[in-house]
Amino acid sequence: MTTKVFITRDIPDEGLNLLKKDKRITLEVYEKDQKIPRRELLKRVKGKDIILSILTEKMDKEVFDAAGDQLKMVANYAVGFDNVDLKEAAKRGIAVTNAPGPEIVDSVAEHTIALIFALLHRIAEGDRYTRAGKYKSWGPKLMLGTDLIGKKVGIIGTGNIGSGVVQRLHDGFGVKILYNDIKKDPKLEKGTDATYRSKMQLLKEADIVSLHVPLLPSTKHLISTKELKAMKKTAFLINTSRGAIVHEKALLKALKNGEIAGAGLDVYECEPLIDCDPKDNLALRNMENVVLTPHTASATIRTRQAMSRTAAENILAFLDGKKPPNAVKPKK
Ligand code: DGY
Repeated sequence: MTTKVFITRDIPDEGLNLLKKDKRITLEVYEKDQKIPRRELLKRVKGKDIILSILTEKMDKEVFDAAGDQLKMVANYAVGFDNVDLKEAAKRGIAVTNAPGPEIVDSVAEHTIALIFALLHRIAEGDRYTRAGKYKSWGPKLMLGTDLIGKKVGIIGTGNIGSGVVQRLHDGFGVKILYNDIKKDPKLEKGTDATYRSKMQLLKEADIVSLHVPLLPSTKHLISTKELKAMKKTAFLINTSRGAIVHEKALLKALKNGEIAGAGLDVYECEPLIDCDPKDNLALRNMENVVLTPHTASATIRTRQAMSRTAAENILAFLDGKKPPNAVKPKK
């Protein structure tokens, strides 16, 4: 009997090919390049031993029940695993893995820095302005932005991705780096001259604040009214982690009231909605000082292939009876 693996959305081919050529596996992939409707998901997981899930699909009690008792593993195609109910999985003995790696660190760190520059140098705004035919003549005061050099950048969360951002900012851009995490990181400090600050102190001092924490009950709305009020009026907020780390309503208010200068966002509290209230015309999508990308910080061919390989390798290790390299467990 073969192991039945269901993939909830087509992924780049490298991992797919590893799974396809393994004789122990019968593979089924959701055919359409779109989010699988929930009802279809519940139907298709029935009888499967392993689900390779995409971050848009909640892997919860309902899915586990629909799959049946034979479900042994959920291999998540993402570094984040907030879409998986880890406690419920552990209770049922379902192994869970994520898909980290050096490539995703590179991509998300580069994207974070791209968002910083897009905001400071008003790239997206300038692009809109130019395309709209508004550029009539060079002007000494036309669309003045901000230089990154000499600024203080505050990084909240210095796991692999946060540290990757710190390293690049230190090596490349002549900035002072402040960081915050649950504990100090002497190695990071030594290599990058980064200085530890409490969260509130970092928010007060930094010219740019970038968020790199996982979404957990303890990090939901880590940035809300009090935190935004602590930031400088000239400061920018970048979020490439998960939308719900930032309280969207509080952010909207801070932007509308000029309490901060702008935001660069790759993730959204009500994703895939950009604004939790799509009828609010003064919301994020209509603000000039906000740069938005569609959760594509890791979306390079190299990285998405690496994530595909990693997810497949976790499954193959599991089938070999080994501990998958990227097993994740609920916090005790
Ligand atoms: C992840 O892997 O968690 C990223 O958000 C995907 O882009």
